[in-house]
Amino acid sequence: MKRQLSILIVLLAIAGGISLAVSAQTKKAPAKGKAATGKASGAAALWMQHCKKCHAEDGKGIESLEPPDMTTEKWQAANTDKAIADAINEGKGIMPGFKDTLKPAQVTALVKHVRTLKVAGETK
Ligand code: HEC
Repeated sequence: MKRQLSILIVLLAIAGGISLAVSAQTKKAPAKGKAATGKASGAAALWMQHCKKCHAEDGKGIESLEPPDMTTEKWQAANTDKAIADAINEGKGIMPGFKDTLKPAQVTALVKHVRTLKVAGETK
């Protein structure tokens, strides 16, 4: 019984260590490369707040929702700034529209952020 308890404690310690490491990683990630310009980091914060849950931090998207992979050259070339802004304002498929949540300037900032996703995807 005592032995089982100590095994349990060891397992809990390992699990705790892993979750700590994971949360440290996710906290560190948004900072890289985005801090250079104040505006970009504002847009990145909007992305993290409103878009990341479906499009993922890097723009590849959460697979089960089938959003487009914004990191590809092909997607970036096929979508104009206006089309991206329209999608953000009006929504598309299961994606909600954000025109009541975001100011036009924030939508514009997010369009710019979406454009940076390709670069981010390529450097990996
Ligand atoms: C609830 C999940 C969800 C959220 C939140 C979300 N999206 Fe989407 N988004 C999607 C899905 C799914 C698609 C694919 C829609 C389709 O083609 O039917 C999509 C498509 C898009 C497109 C491509 C539209 C097109 O014309 O093909 C853009 C650009 C986009 N999202 C940007 C954003 C931005 C920026 C945000 C944050 C402000 C955001 N999305 C928030 C799920 C989401």
